[in-house]
Amino acid sequence: MRRKLVVGNWKMHGSHAANAELLAGVLAAKPYLADVAMCVPFPYLSEVAVALTGSHLLWGAQDVSAHEQGAYTGEVSSTMLAEFGCRYAIVGHSERRACHNETDQLVADKAKAALAHGVTPIVCVGETLAQREAGETEMVVKRQLSAVIHTLTHCIGEIVVAYEPVWAIGTGRTATPEQAQEVHALLRKQLHAATPHAGGMRLLYGGSVKPDNAAALFAQPDIDGGLIGGASLKAGDFVAICRAAA
Ligand code: PGA
Repeated sequence: MRRKLVVGNWKMHGSHAANAELLAGVLAAKPYLADVAMCVPFPYLSEVAVALTGSHLLWGAQDVSAHEQGAYTGEVSSTMLAEFGCRYAIVGHSERRACHNETDQLVADKAKAALAHGVTPIVCVGETLAQREAGETEMVVKRQLSAVIHTLTHCIGEIVVAYEPVWAIGTGRTATPEQAQEVHALLRKQLHAATPHAGGMRLLYGGSVKPDNAAALFAQPDIDGGLIGGASLKAGDFVAICRAAA
């Protein structure tokens, strides 16, 4: 039985005051039957670590450099994330693929750099609306995952995968549980061909997950939790989604 995982992705939102209020609300609702983590903007890692240390909540970052150290202005390495107690780093989010031209190979290299220092990468894959309408969903998500499989080789079983159809992110338009399950099953099959550990890997769904649709998504056989954007900024909504993952 895979334990469910719910990860909040704050994106570029937050302030000292808002973070404190949000975390207090989420912490007050303990305990959860699922693993719960918050992936926060880099500057807040320190205060989030202080707030969550000793609690049942984990934390992480929304990106990581593919490099160890050096002249990479603006980048943050996985050794730095590890020093701040990060358990997870999101890599290859569609917003980074689209706005920062991240390639499949760069995403794979970032995942490798994270794993090298004990930070579990949450590797995002997903098709755009145009790709879905052109019947390319399977080809696109398999290509994205394939780069990671080839780069991580025998370590592939240690990552978390998040299927996030781009057309469902922040749009209020969720994939139906059946649409999401169909892609999750494809990804699980691809992982089975690459590792004996595929059956234990967690595959998250992301894209307009809300309290009213979370339970139906999480009930699908290959959906092991969610990557939550907008709803992770409201304590009540996020708590309800975590409870749906029991
Ligand atoms: P959303 O974002 O829940 O706001 O759609 C999900 C994500 O981008 O990870």
